[in-house]
Amino acid sequence: MHKTNSSVQIDNQLTKWLEGELRSDHAGETGAVWIYRGILATCTDPGVRDFAQQHLETEKQHLKLIEAFLHRDQRSWLLPLWRVAGFLTGALPSIFSSNAVLATVSTAETFVVSHYMAQIGRLQSHNSHNNICRVLQSCCDDEAKHESEASNLLNGRPSFFLRVWCALVSSGSNLAVKCARVI
Ligand SMILES: [Fe+2]
Ligand SMILES: [Fe+2]
Repeated sequence: MHKTNSSVQIDNQLTKWLEGELRSDHAGETGAVWIYRGILATCTDPGVRDFAQQHLETEKQHLKLIEAFLHRDQRSWLLPLWRVAGFLTGALPSIFSSNAVLATVSTAETFVVSHYMAQIGRLQSHNSHNNICRVLQSCCDDEAKHESEASNLLNGRPSFFLRVWCALVSSGSNLAVKCARVI
């Protein structure tokens, strides 16, 4: 089928947008791997460690899947920063309590689900890059499972300080995505 100039322009815009989005996904999955590594480095609760170990394996698979779509030179230049930020996001709450870990995981995974859903929605509306869309959907389904596992294990309503921490995690994730789209 012959494409008009404007549809070629839309394709180019979409490809450019998608590269930034995949860079943010790759940065996010890197951060996710390091969140669970951070939890495992400091948490002593066997139940939470088991949960973190299982999630870590899934996040490593996600990272591999996204890596396949993104050339080395297309990845974020700030990967060392995303690793450190992820590690601290997992390690710091583990020092305080299992509930703090679970609330942090629930917050981070909630953020990731909405991030992936926005990308999937745009790709579906253009009926474009269906293979990437399928991978993003399968990652998103896993993240939703991670979130519900964490919130099911949460014991009671998080304290005020924990809610402040979770708000920081959410806004930090938002800022990280904005940076990783471009750098
Ligand atoms: Fe993930
Ligand atoms: Fe996850």
